[in-house]
Amino acid sequence: MRLALTQDIHMPMVGFGTYLINNDDVQPAVLEALRVGYRHIDTAEAYGNEEGVGRAIHAGMQELGLLREDIFVTTKLFPGNEAWGQPAKTYQSTIESLNQSLSKLKLDYVDLYLIHAPLAQKQRLEQWRALVALRQMGKVRTIGVSNYNVAHIEEIKSAGLPLPNANQIELHPWSQKPALTSYLVDHDITIIAYSSLVPLSTWRTAPGQDSAKTEIMKQAGDEADSPFKMMAQKYGVSEAQVLLRWGLQKGYAILPKSTNKTRIRQNFDVLSFEIDDADMSAIDKMDRGDGVAWSIGDPTQLP
Ligand SMILES: NC(=O)c1ccc[n+]([C@@H]2O[C@H](COP(=O)([O-])OP(=O)(O)OC[C@H]3O[C@@H](n4cnc5c(N)ncnc54)[C@H](OP(=O)(O)O)[C@@H]3O)[C@@H](O)[C@H]2O)c1
Repeated sequence: MRLALTQDIHMPMVGFGTYLINNDDVQPAVLEALRVGYRHIDTAEAYGNEEGVGRAIHAGMQELGLLREDIFVTTKLFPGNEAWGQPAKTYQSTIESLNQSLSKLKLDYVDLYLIHAPLAQKQRLEQWRALVALRQMGKVRTIGVSNYNVAHIEEIKSAGLPLPNANQIELHPWSQKPALTSYLVDHDITIIAYSSLVPLSTWRTAPGQDSAKTEIMKQAGDEADSPFKMMAQKYGVSEAQVLLRWGLQKGYAILPKSTNKTRIRQNFDVLSFEIDDADMSAIDKMDRGDGVAWSIGDPTQLP
């Protein structure tokens, strides 16, 4: 299953996420994902694992006889964050960041380059102009944003610049962002869902991997009578597969991350069943608002 980013460029809907996997562990994980059949890999400058991802892609191409064009690779610009004492990237340093990512990945181009978050208030449009230029240079095939709300995209539109091909945002039954997703659909901006598995009781339970907001999102009784457990039993799959399949049925690309071989395989096996209309409608009513990762904030306001 693929989603169109442009008339000619399509992205496999099931991608492999690599956040919180270090440079050493990411190589076997991505290689295993390629063996299982994933053909879309998501990394980022900020994950510090682009070298390992690149090694796995080259090893996978050799072992599996794949060509570069068989694998869809996304990486992201870390825009800088003055609140963390990191200067915002300029037009020029954005171009340099992509060049560094390509050299770490040992690739001539990436398929999708995203601005990781709308953090660089004063440089946001300059960074976007740099991405547009990188697409013209052929160093990135498509460009997009991540964690952008409606106002951030309107800022691009008002400047008369091309709109993003995609917006990568946290989406799962507890954070459905209806206003933002319908705006993206109306503007032909492809939606990529991340952190699809937040409602699992085991989501990022390893030390240092949790999100402070996860506990706030969870409600008393979630563990005992999780509707996803009941749906999983009904369809004969795991809860994770139900959550991933929901994203696909909403029309989103998904990026499950795992370092466990069984789960890497299981998360790719999401096409053999379908969530019925009644369950999709029941899930529609489970929205609990903003997500647990980056705060998108008020969808109509610029920070
Ligand atoms: N643009 C952004 O700002 C942004 C933010 C967050 C994420 N992302 C991207 O989206 C990807 C996915 O999001 P995520 O990493 O936050 O979380 P996720 O994929 O929703 O969930 C990962 C967590 O679930 C566990 N898990 C995975 N498969 C499972 C299964 N079948 N059954 C039970 N547990 C399972 C993993 O543990 P094990 O590893 O032990 O299996 C890990 O604790 C990231 O890796 C990254 O590429 C982007």
